[in-house]
Amino acid sequence: MSNSIRRIGVFTSGGDAPGMNAAIRAVVRTSMNMGIECIGIRRGYSGLISGDFVKLDFSIVSGLLRRGGTMLYSARSETFKTPEGQQKALATCKLLGIDGLVGIGGDGTFRGLLALSKLGISVAGIPGTIDNDINCSTHTVGFDTACNTAQDAIDKLRDTTESHERCSVVEVMGRHAGHLALSVGVACGATTVLVPERPIDFERDVVEPIRRSRLSGRTHFMVIVAEGVGSAYDVAARIREETALDTRVTVLGHIQRGGAPTARDRIAATYMGYEAVRLLAEGKSNRVVCMQGDTYVDYDIDEALNMKKDLDIQTYTVMQALTGVDY
Ligand code: F6P
Repeated sequence: MSNSIRRIGVFTSGGDAPGMNAAIRAVVRTSMNMGIECIGIRRGYSGLISGDFVKLDFSIVSGLLRRGGTMLYSARSETFKTPEGQQKALATCKLLGIDGLVGIGGDGTFRGLLALSKLGISVAGIPGTIDNDINCSTHTVGFDTACNTAQDAIDKLRDTTESHERCSVVEVMGRHAGHLALSVGVACGATTVLVPERPIDFERDVVEPIRRSRLSGRTHFMVIVAEGVGSAYDVAARIREETALDTRVTVLGHIQRGGAPTARDRIAATYMGYEAVRLLAEGKSNRVVCMQGDTYVDYDIDEALNMKKDLDIQTYTVMQALTGVDY
C-alpha cells in the first residue's frame, strides 16, 4: 500500500447523527494502525478556517462507539462557501501538515470537500445524516438510529392515542426528504404517511385511508408527516375539519438526532471510516464512501453529487400495499 499520507484531519459537519463518533473512532484507529497521524478538526468547516483542532489517539476515541452526537462538535459555515474561507481552510491544513481530510456529513460537507480537493488536499467523505438523503448511498450513518428512536416514541404515543380513540399526527424530520417518514411509517403501521416527494391529494392520501381504517374497525389513527411537507398542525386541523376526529400533534424534533447508535449504524460507520482512510492511504482523493444495499462502494464526489435518489421503491411499495394509498 503506497502511503504518502502522513497526517489525516477528520471532522463532522452539518446536523449531527448517531454513529458519527463511531466513524471518527474508525478513522483514528485505522490511521494509527497504518502509521498515519490523526487530527480532529472541531466545529466542522468553521474549525478548519479558525484552526480549531485536537490531536486524536487510541485513548481519546476509546468508548466512542456507543456514544451519540459528535465529540468533534458540528457546525454549518457560511464563510467556508466563499473563496476566502476556503483559502483560510487550506492555510490551516498546510500549517498543521494535514495532507488528507475525512469529512463526515451530508451533501454540503461533500461540496466543501470537493472545493478543498481542487486546492490540492486529498479528501474522502462519509455520509452521516439522519435524513438518508445522500443520493449515492442507500444508507447514511444515523438513519437507522433515528428510525428506531422515532419508532419507540410512536409506539408509546399509540398507547394514549388508542385509549382516547384519537388521531395522532406525528411530524418527523428529514429536511426536504421523506425517507425517514416512510420507513418510520412502515415500522409503526401508520394509517398514512405524507412525504414531500409526492404531490398530496388530501382526500385520497389522508381522509380515505382514515375512513378505510375506521370501516375495518379501528378507532384510532396514526398519520406521519415528513417535515418537508409542511406543518403537522395544519394537517391535524384539516383532519379535524374533514373527519371530526379528535386530533393531537407530536413533533418529534431533535430527539431523533440523539441516542446510542444502533448496531447497523455502528457497523456502517466503522466500515466507512476504515474505507475512507484506506482510500486516502492508497493515494486516492475526491471520493465518497457509500452503501449500495449491503455492499460498500465509493464514487467521485462530483459523480456522487450528481446522482438522483427517489424514495426506496420497496418500502414505498409495501406502504402502498398496506395502506392502499398510491403515494
Ligand atoms: O439534516 C438533519 C436535520 O435534523 C434535518 O432533518 C432538519 O431539517 C435539520 O437538520 C434541523 O437543523 P437544525 O439542527 O439546524 O435545527
